[in-house]
Amino acid sequence: MDTERARRDFPVFTGAADDPIYLDNACQTFRPRQVIEASDEYYLNYPACAGRSVHRLATEVSIKVDETREKISKFIGSRSPNRVIFTKNCTEALNLVAKGLSLGRGDAVLTTDMEHNSNHVPWIQLARTKGIIPKIVETPSDGIFDLESYKRMMSREVKIVSFAHTNNATGTSVPAKEVIEIAHDRGALVMLDGAQYAPHSKVDLDRLDVDFYAFSVHKMLGPSGVGVLYAKEELAADLEPLIVGGGAISTATYDKVEYLPVPERFEGGLMNYSGIVGSGAAVDYLESLGMENVAEHDAALNSLVTEGLKDLDEVSVLAPVDPQLRGSIFSFNIRGMSSHDVAMILDQMGGIMIRSGMHCTHPFFLTRRIDGCARASFYVYNTLEECNRFIEAVKKIIHDFST
Ligand code: ALA
Repeated sequence: MDTERARRDFPVFTGAADDPIYLDNACQTFRPRQVIEASDEYYLNYPACAGRSVHRLATEVSIKVDETREKISKFIGSRSPNRVIFTKNCTEALNLVAKGLSLGRGDAVLTTDMEHNSNHVPWIQLARTKGIIPKIVETPSDGIFDLESYKRMMSREVKIVSFAHTNNATGTSVPAKEVIEIAHDRGALVMLDGAQYAPHSKVDLDRLDVDFYAFSVHKMLGPSGVGVLYAKEELAADLEPLIVGGGAISTATYDKVEYLPVPERFEGGLMNYSGIVGSGAAVDYLESLGMENVAEHDAALNSLVTEGLKDLDEVSVLAPVDPQLRGSIFSFNIRGMSSHDVAMILDQMGGIMIRSGMHCTHPFFLTRRIDGCARASFYVYNTLEECNRFIEAVKKIIHDFST
């Protein structure tokens, strides 16, 4: 992949010596000018509302939304754009399914002990309000998903398995195909939180046979405020919408309502049209790079950084050490230092931006009695030189501050 060429598309990089070294891509990525221009195009050329009015500007927005739905559908390997529901982020997509399934007392959901709060708290909430039973697959100390333990946990009460496809703190992935086959054999649905997987690897969701798949476009070069829920139509038709109101309704009387068909029934209220149009440009951009090249590039940077730091006594890598098992994420601690201090010093010292703390996966850190970690995460515009500067900066911090 021609990283230098790609960088020229990102206005945030000016070529100056003090350009940011941005390694916080698991949180949010930068946007290329193609995405910024597409988002602006909405405000400049057709700043109206989709799916309601019949004038020409409204029609233009509706067409753009349909085109983007189609583009995203193809990008994720979905046979129909009706499987693509726009939400405001991955969190909303996960909540939509959790709360839309009408689970009740005694129904169980199976998650892992490493879930992001967005795939943990909705189930805890449902345990309190509806009496569902959250069950949790524990991860061994090597950080690798335990398929045998998963099989043992798959009791008859489990109605849905809901796992992060790739974990945002460690970068490890679950074996999605096996997970789905086992769940389906036992009559359970599967939802995957693809927030950290879909931006980095090709997904082929129909083929995977997953029932629900959620991700956010702001982690894949797209604008803030747009997420996607992929849902099989027949299952979506039975989901209770999370947000109800204008744009989602076919007709309503004073005591009854008929929703529009899937996917519009889940898109109540005025949508983020600029963001949706920009999301189409983000998908185009990633297609032009090639998702195989993106995955290879991210893995190469992770290998370089891991090689450069893994053998230092003062550095502990959040298991597993093998970068091939951690996609684009390198999480670590420096002996005797808080992760927030490491992150702040990296920024002050070299304009190197990473994330620190518990990464919204509090239960994982609290049960292991780890006070968070520093996390570097890589994407298409990061270079080998930036990674080498990161390695040198971590070494300097160890020299100057580690105990
Ligand atoms: N979930 C995002 C992260 O891990 C915000 O940084």
